[in-house]
Amino acid sequence: MVLVLGINGSPRKDGNSGTLLDEALRSASECGADIIRIDVSDLDISGCRSCWACEESGLCVVDDDMTKVYEVLLRADALIVVSPVYFSGPTSQLKQLIDRCNCLWNRKLPSAKKGALMVVAADPEQNFRPIIAELRSFMNSVGHPCHEELLVPGVFRKGEVVADRNAMRMAMEIGARLASG
Ligand SMILES: Cc1cc2nc3c(=O)[nH]c(=O)nc-3n(C[C@H](O)[C@H](O)[C@H](O)COP(=O)(O)O)c2cc1C
Repeated sequence: MVLVLGINGSPRKDGNSGTLLDEALRSASECGADIIRIDVSDLDISGCRSCWACEESGLCVVDDDMTKVYEVLLRADALIVVSPVYFSGPTSQLKQLIDRCNCLWNRKLPSAKKGALMVVAADPEQNFRPIIAELRSFMNSVGHPCHEELLVPGVFRKGEVVADRNAMRMAMEIGARLASG
């Protein structure tokens, strides 16, 4: 069975990122996939120390909640990464997770798996290029290159993305496509 992993970078409970991810994972599950959701702000993750102990081993020496994130990242067949834009980039919580995947970058994993990213922003004119570049770089490093993007500008208040029927439909379709293996 296909395993779809969703990583929510937003610290806001029931926020726009979480709402889109719920929709994608619900759809993936309905299409027969196993699903796992990670809310980064629920985890105890510290930043990369740049010790480079992982250079040879591919393993991180820091002992925290990243241990379980590595395990599911490597096991998942498909990955969905969701984040709000915070000053052009992802949230600091998600950035810590990304940087801690330097050990997986060192493993030079094959780019064989599927990936999708979804990003929300309050500004209707938001430039998504910086965050897309960063999230794509991360996804390549963990063996889940990004095959599709859902970018939703103009959503500010908690959960208001639910009123954007087009975005919700696209999230549902992304979940279904990733579930198809
Ligand atoms: C610290 C911080 C920085 C933000 N920076 C931006 C920004 O640069 N551009 C933008 O359009 N929205 C920005 N926002 C607004 C969020 O991207 C927006 O409210 C989004 O819908 C939040 O998603 P969430 O509900 O998933 O947390 C920022 C919000 C916060 C809290």
